[in-house]
Amino acid sequence: MNNQYQTGVQPPQQFQQPQSRQRPIMAIRGIDKVYHQGEREIHVLKGVSVDLFKGEAVALVGPSGSGKSSLLHILGLLDKADDGKVYLSGHDCTDFNDAQRTKMRRSEIGFVYQFHQLLPEFSALENVIIPQLINGHTRKTAEQRAKVILDFLGLADRLTHRPNAMSGGEQQRVAIARGIANEPAVLLADEPTGNLDPNTADRVFQQLMGLIRHTGLAAIIATHNFELANKMDRVLQLQDGQIYSYVPQR
Ligand SMILES: Nc1ncnc2c1ncn2[C@@H]1O[C@H](COP(=O)(O)OP(=O)(O)O)[C@@H](O)[C@H]1O
Ligand SMILES: [Mg+2]
Repeated sequence: MNNQYQTGVQPPQQFQQPQSRQRPIMAIRGIDKVYHQGEREIHVLKGVSVDLFKGEAVALVGPSGSGKSSLLHILGLLDKADDGKVYLSGHDCTDFNDAQRTKMRRSEIGFVYQFHQLLPEFSALENVIIPQLINGHTRKTAEQRAKVILDFLGLADRLTHRPNAMSGGEQQRVAIARGIANEPAVLLADEPTGNLDPNTADRVFQQLMGLIRHTGLAAIIATHNFELANKMDRVLQLQDGQIYSYVPQR
């Protein structure tokens, strides 16, 4: 396994750190993704490169169908690109087999979906404990950690509630808690507030940002909401299969 790589790309100025810490926690290079639908080819990503640095909260914006989810799935090792390289936490994951990808994903990646995808038969607490048990933590450690995160997200009095006994905002906060339960290096969120009313979306977004800042995670959050996107450190705009990166003016 080759875990040495050089990207040659400098982080945005506000993230420039001592030389030894300048390596991105996650990087992709020249990613291509094509879907085939019958005769039709949909070329969603055309040589996309992205660097993500520790502590960064990055927005991913673009019209519906522009490839945000496709990109997040490739970054999150849930899907493979047709071409290009994927680096995560110092490893070249491009040619990982399924078992290696799963192992890497479990320890290094947290994923939050637009629709919470919580296990309906389990409580909020169990939903945050289970991925930690799968990752090899003891029940005691997992439960302690789940409680700390759920408390941080204002859900201390919802621990025993099942998903269908919680509001949309609460369900998404549990999904966020689950996403960071295994202390991933990177949190990827696919329109995590897209299904919430504007006020709730705003609150959940604030809590998500608070959590990112508190833990020092690196995060990429796909959103339709430019107002939210402009509150993040950097914006990646997907358009016609290409990425444009800018720092929002405030
Ligand atoms: N599994 C798939 N098979 C075929 N086409 C797909 C598949 N997944 C996504 N697409 C197409 O790729 C394009 C990008 O989709 P997606 O990544 O979901 O965009 P976004 O998340 O920005 O809305 C869309 O045109 C979509 O229809
Ligand atoms: Mg999508």
